[in-house]
Amino acid sequence: MFKCRVCHTDVSPFMTFGQMPIANGFLTEEQFEDEFFYEMEVGVCSACSMFQLAGQPEPQQMFHQSYAFYSSLSAHMQSHFGNFAAYLDEEYLSRRIDPFVVELGSNDGIMLQHIKERGYRHLGVEPSANVADIARSKGIETLSEFFSLDLALRLGSLHGKADVVTCANVMCHIPDINSVAAGIASLLKPDGVLVFEDPYLGNVIEKISYDQIYDEHVFLFSVRSVGNAFSRHGLELVDVTPQETHGGSMRYILAPKGSRPIKPSVSEWLQVESRQGLDVQDTYDKFKKDCDVSRMKLKNLIKALKIEGKRIVGYGATSKSTSVLNYCGIGPEDIEYITDTTPLKQGKFSPGAHIPIRGHDAFTGDYPDYALLFAWNHANEIFSKEGDYKRSGGKWILFVPEVKVIN
Ligand code: TYD
Ligand code: ZN
Repeated sequence: MFKCRVCHTDVSPFMTFGQMPIANGFLTEEQFEDEFFYEMEVGVCSACSMFQLAGQPEPQQMFHQSYAFYSSLSAHMQSHFGNFAAYLDEEYLSRRIDPFVVELGSNDGIMLQHIKERGYRHLGVEPSANVADIARSKGIETLSEFFSLDLALRLGSLHGKADVVTCANVMCHIPDINSVAAGIASLLKPDGVLVFEDPYLGNVIEKISYDQIYDEHVFLFSVRSVGNAFSRHGLELVDVTPQETHGGSMRYILAPKGSRPIKPSVSEWLQVESRQGLDVQDTYDKFKKDCDVSRMKLKNLIKALKIEGKRIVGYGATSKSTSVLNYCGIGPEDIEYITDTTPLKQGKFSPGAHIPIRGHDAFTGDYPDYALLFAWNHANEIFSKEGDYKRSGGKWILFVPEVKVIN
């Protein structure tokens, strides 16, 4: 049993993943001995519908000085955030006088750079010092702190209230959602909006993408749970739009209650969620079984290929891959290395499983027989880049939505 972080109702976990390391905690050999593990369990609150981790490591364990996540490395994400900024501009900024945009978890400024280019007042709040420094070097106003009600009050008196508060792939990371929601509510102008997007629970259940569940993702949101969580702080959902990013995300638009018309998308998606059974315990019991089957199939496939003497590598040292490797018990005896373009990850080892991370050259210089696509959310971008691998006879192993091999 644990207490729901939103409404404090008792929740009993429906699934345990066993001992998990920090998903983004890529480490050196010397650090193996002191590696941090925790029991990863998930549950859904029967009162407010929030899907959440039972326990979560301390933020300091997860978002440290050398946090290895850089938003700007994917070409597709670059264009996504260009479009995101254009959407904010068109819908909520262009007709306002001297608007002010606050982004939580602004990372290296992948989105705010477009807001800055348009000459709008902006502020990024980014606790990870190394990525915040990159944003500052691009001239993006950035504060290295964790967002809270307290910080929101200080920002409001220092800079004035915000027209738009936004974040992407950040809200679902913040355990004290009540403090953040209260902070945002106090920071917004009466006609301001909160726009955020995160991986969508409906897609995770449908695609059996259990790899979206890891320490940083303390919540997996649905339209219903987001509506419930923010209504406690005077904000209501006025629109929702599905997104392709991260294998299926949802963009939520919230405004002070009664300040804007509510678009039909909100009730339409609530109906979709009822039809999918997101409020029914059976759905999660089935999800757990689906995950077990997915794990067994992936392990069996890898075992069979190893018996045939095939070389298998991982592609994309994603945070998600940490859940797959540790939940499935896949290690360096199965996967030679994981290739990843992030310099900070290269030369290190994957959390828990301790598979070496190598650069892209390792892959192109000596193609394996099979590449297990951990970065499946970037499949199109990667497949078009790796035409030579395919032509050389290389095969891809996918595990979402099902375990299969493709040429
Ligand atoms: P990301 O999609 O952010 O997933 P997660 O949130 O689970 O960490 O991470 C993608 C990772 O894949 C990142 O480490 C960079 C790597 N990558 C490549 O190595 N090559 C590529 O072509 C792409 C698109 C990503
Ligand atoms: Zn709850």
